[in-house]
Amino acid sequence: MNPKVMNKLSYGIFVVTAKDGDKDNGCIINTGIQVTTEPNQIAFALNKNNYTHDMIVKTKELNLSILSEKATMATIQNFGFQSGRTADKFVEFPFERSANGITYVAKECNGYISAKVTQTIDLGTHTLFIATVTDGDVLDDSPSATYAYYHAHIKQTSKPEAKKGWICTVCGYIYEGETLPPDFICPICGHPASDFEPLK
Ligand SMILES: Cc1cc2nc3c(=O)[nH]c(=O)nc-3n(C[C@H](O)[C@H](O)[C@H](O)COP(=O)(O)O)c2cc1C
Repeated sequence: MNPKVMNKLSYGIFVVTAKDGDKDNGCIINTGIQVTTEPNQIAFALNKNNYTHDMIVKTKELNLSILSEKATMATIQNFGFQSGRTADKFVEFPFERSANGITYVAKECNGYISAKVTQTIDLGTHTLFIATVTDGDVLDDSPSATYAYYHAHIKQTSKPEAKKGWICTVCGYIYEGETLPPDFICPICGHPASDFEPLK
C-alpha cells in the first residue's frame, strides 16, 4: 500500500469546545463531518489523551466552530498545541457563548454547530463521537479552511527566532533543536520522527 494515499482525503479544520462546571476548554480537530441529515448528526474523533475528550465524555455536549481561511497560526497554537489541563485557553482569547452555555470561537470562524452526544465508539487511541445537532449559526461568508489549506497557507514552516528545528508534516508541531531524536514521537498527533522535516 502507498501510505501517501491517505493524504488525498479531504478534511475541514475545527475547534471543538466543551464546558465542565466553570471550566471552558477546546481543541483543534480535523475529524469533523456531518453523517446524517434526518436526524442531523455529526461525527468527530478525539484522542483519549486530550482534556476536551474527557470533558465531552462527561458532559456529552459540545460546540464545533468551523475555522475559515482567515484562521491564524496563533489560534491553531492556542487550541492545538497546549492542553486545557495546564492552560486556560480562553483567558486571552475572544469568544462567544451559545444557548447551551458552551463557548464558541467567533474570531476566524464562519459558523458554529451545537450538538449533544448520543453514541461513542472506542477506536483504541481515539473515541469516535456521534452527536445530534441542536443549534448553530453562520457567522460570515468566508470560505471554510480545509486541512490542505491549513498545510499550504496557515501552518508555520519557518521560525525566525529558532536557529534549528523540525516540523511535524502531519500537524505542524515544531521541535526546536539541532537534531531530532530518531525515536521522537510528535506530542500533538503521535506521528514518528520520519514524519518531521527540517524548518526552512
Ligand atoms: C491541525 C491539527 C489537527 C488536529 N486534529 C485532531 C483531531 O482530529 N483529534 C484530536 O483528538 N486531536 C487533534 N489535534 C490535537 C489537539 O488539538 C491537541 O492535542 C490539543 O492540545 C488538545 O488539547 P486539550 O488537552 O485541551 O483537549 C490536532 C491538532 C492540530 C494542530
